[in-house]
Amino acid sequence: MRALVVYESMFGNTRVVAGEIADGLRVGYEVRVVPVAEATAELVAGADLLVVGAPTHMHGLSSASSRRTAAKATTKDGSELRLDPDASGPGMRDWLHDIDRGDGLAAAFDTRINGVPAFTGRASRPIAKLLKRHGYRLIAAPESFLVSSQSTLLDGEAGRARRWGMTIGAASKTYLPAHA
Ligand SMILES: Cc1cc2nc3c(=O)[nH]c(=O)nc-3n(C[C@H](O)[C@H](O)[C@H](O)COP(=O)(O)O)c2cc1C
Repeated sequence: MRALVVYESMFGNTRVVAGEIADGLRVGYEVRVVPVAEATAELVAGADLLVVGAPTHMHGLSSASSRRTAAKATTKDGSELRLDPDASGPGMRDWLHDIDRGDGLAAAFDTRINGVPAFTGRASRPIAKLLKRHGYRLIAAPESFLVSSQSTLLDGEAGRARRWGMTIGAASKTYLPAHA
């Protein structure tokens, strides 16, 4: 069984979380983890489980303008933020609008600032909505992994991401034909 984890990341947090989720999924899946730019239609079509994640920007998915703001933040004097190697590629919003219709299993996650979701927003919500609109069956509630106000992943979140990967991997098996 194949799982594909697709992520967008400007500062690296979502990339790290995606990698941990992928490690958790490896218990039951052959896993590829790729940035949006490398997530081809062929890879998506070949996946039994599609897991999609992005940073929360302006309460939802990033836009060209919020991505520019993020890139600028890394160049400010004294900034400890580093631009992720794949940050200049396409964003998750466009990728999700353009994916082919599918009927497979999927799950959505995001990274966001630690706080009440009603105030922070959660990119995983629009991701889940768009996956559903394209025909995918969501096997878990959208999940958030938390960063500090300085955009560093909070202690324990990497481990939680790995466990979430294991959990959704196990949950997905109950939807697959062998278990029907
Ligand atoms: C332009 C911009 C807008 C942001 N807006 C929000 C927001 O509305 N809610 C939130 O919780 N975090 C927000 N954040 C914080 C990011 O969600 C957080 O830093 C995330 O972990 C970054 O992921 P990345 O390291 O993969 O880029 C914003 C960050 C940037 C750069």
